[in-house]
Amino acid sequence: MSIEKAYNSWAKIYDTNENKTRDLDKKSTIEILSNYHFDSVLELGCGTGKNTEWLITKAKKIIALDFSRKMLNEAKKKIQNDNVLFKKANLLEVWEVADEFADLVTVNLTLEHINDLNFVFGQAYLKLKTDGIFFINELHPFKQYNGSKARFDSEKETEVLEVYTHHITDYINAAKENGFKLEEIYEQFDDLNKNEIPRLISIILRKN
Ligand SMILES: C[S@@+](CC[C@H](N)C(=O)[O-])C[C@H]1O[C@@H](n2cnc3c(N)ncnc32)[C@H](O)[C@@H]1O
Repeated sequence: MSIEKAYNSWAKIYDTNENKTRDLDKKSTIEILSNYHFDSVLELGCGTGKNTEWLITKAKKIIALDFSRKMLNEAKKKIQNDNVLFKKANLLEVWEVADEFADLVTVNLTLEHINDLNFVFGQAYLKLKTDGIFFINELHPFKQYNGSKARFDSEKETEVLEVYTHHITDYINAAKENGFKLEEIYEQFDDLNKNEIPRLISIILRKN
């Protein structure tokens, strides 16, 4: 099943099925981004708008992109705000957003479906204002080495989605190659338990 189709099937239960990764992403995103000021946000792979809902309490304008029509429909049901524009778009094609639109570009739990980090980092750089930040919150590669993949239970079976492993060096090199400066990096653990493998990697990059 294509990634787009899989998310169309997952959309109805995405917000409610048991999902520690989704929940830790939400918590850590709020913790980290609360320390930053931003007016205009470009959200990549916004899904059902789980993070859009919080982001719009801080921002004046959000453009939120996703290629799954049904994930976007859930987001639109949840958020009816003239300052949020949901757009159906494939992140692997040139983004139809004005250059230097955003103070913040954020991508959460989406890059595992993107083979070509360089393209996304290059587009993110173009869409950011000087001094803007690029926030990345993704499944930690250690989890990926252990076989963790985005998955959900459909009526018939467990659907496992197509994913690509991104090593920490892949993120750092893509950042460097596209002109970003590394500002912060964190690992997010379940229940703050540092004896276990971290679930998420959180990276803040800055466009100088
Ligand atoms: C796990 S969900 C994350 C949704 C949201 N960011 C969150 O944290 O809850 C991944 C999202 O990325 C979207 N996605 C994956 N690959 C994409 C692509 N190439 N272009 C646009 N959206 C994509 C999917 O449709 C899905 O909504």
